[in-house]
Amino acid sequence: MKRSILIHPDPRLKKICPPVEAVTPDIGQLAEDMLATMYDAPGIGLAAPQVGAMHRLLVMDCVKDPEVAPRPMVLINPSVTWASEDLAVYDEGCLSIPDQYAEVTRPAKVRVEWTGLDGKQQEEEFAGLWATCVQHEIDHLNGKLFIDYLGPLKRQMITRKMEKLKREMARNG
Ligand code: NI
Repeated sequence: MKRSILIHPDPRLKKICPPVEAVTPDIGQLAEDMLATMYDAPGIGLAAPQVGAMHRLLVMDCVKDPEVAPRPMVLINPSVTWASEDLAVYDEGCLSIPDQYAEVTRPAKVRVEWTGLDGKQQEEEFAGLWATCVQHEIDHLNGKLFIDYLGPLKRQMITRKMEKLKREMARNG
C-alpha cells in the first residue's frame, strides 16, 4: 500500500532515527509499502522518515535501463564502513523536495553494511548513481537533506518554494 510522502519543511525530516531493533512483520510491511511508494512517485530511493516512520530503514532501486531487471533493495540499519577519496558530483533531487535539483559532491564509492529483511547482515560496495543514492538516503536517517549541502541562500530559496507548495497543497486538499 502506498504511503504519503512528507514534504520539506517538516520536523520529522530533521530527526535522527533510532535503529530497527528487530525485523518484525510491521517492518516488512513498511519496506514493501515504501518500495510501492518509491516506484509510484517515481523515484530511485526513499527513507522511512520520508513517510513519517522514524526507523533506520531505506529502500532503493537505481536501475534506470528498462532492458535491465529492477533491483529493489531494502537496507535496515545501514552504515557506511568505507568511503573513497574520489568524489563525484550529481544533480540530486528528493521526493520530499519535489522538482528542485542541485549539484552535490560526495565520495564516488562507498562500502555499506546493513541488515536485510531476512535479518542477515550484508555488505556491498556501491559506485555511480547507487553510491550517491545510498548516501543521500542514509543522510535522511540522520535528519539531513541534500539542500543542507548548499549555501544558505540557495537553501532558503528552495525552502520558501516548498512552503508555498505546501500552502497550495493544503488549499487544494
Ligand atoms: Ni531524499
